[in-house]
Amino acid sequence: MIIADVIREARRARLNARASYSGFKVGAALETLQGKIFTGCNVENSTYGLTVCAERVALWKAISEGESEFQRIVVVADTDVLTPPCGACRQLLWEFCGDVEVILSNLRGDEIKHQLKALFPFPFDQSFINKE
Ligand code: THU
Repeated sequence: MIIADVIREARRARLNARASYSGFKVGAALETLQGKIFTGCNVENSTYGLTVCAERVALWKAISEGESEFQRIVVVADTDVLTPPCGACRQLLWEFCGDVEVILSNLRGDEIKHQLKALFPFPFDQSFINKE
């Protein structure tokens, strides 16, 4: 898909955010290598702590549908300084998606592209486990 279309999907997903505690709505669109899109929005609840970010909702949807190869994720929020994925999401995106493109955008159409590796240097991951 072209990036403008993926951004449109993330914006659309953002409208479904359940953000009545923070008031901060986020949308995400995760694209597989084959060009399939899985969207997500943040989902908050009364415990606060069980909140799930938009990126993770998109990631879990894709994984639960059997996807394992990804090329990019778009994150959209209504901020002037473009909103990046939180640390927990960076960890999980790294482990399940690898060094994907991370495109940040806002409602006025600003956008910037990063590689996940640049946003998440020196990660802890599977490569450290079970080494003798
Ligand atoms: N949030 C996301 O969904 N993704 C981000 O990249 C940043 C933060 C959500 C979590 C919470 O529902 C709200 O934004 C405020 O932190």
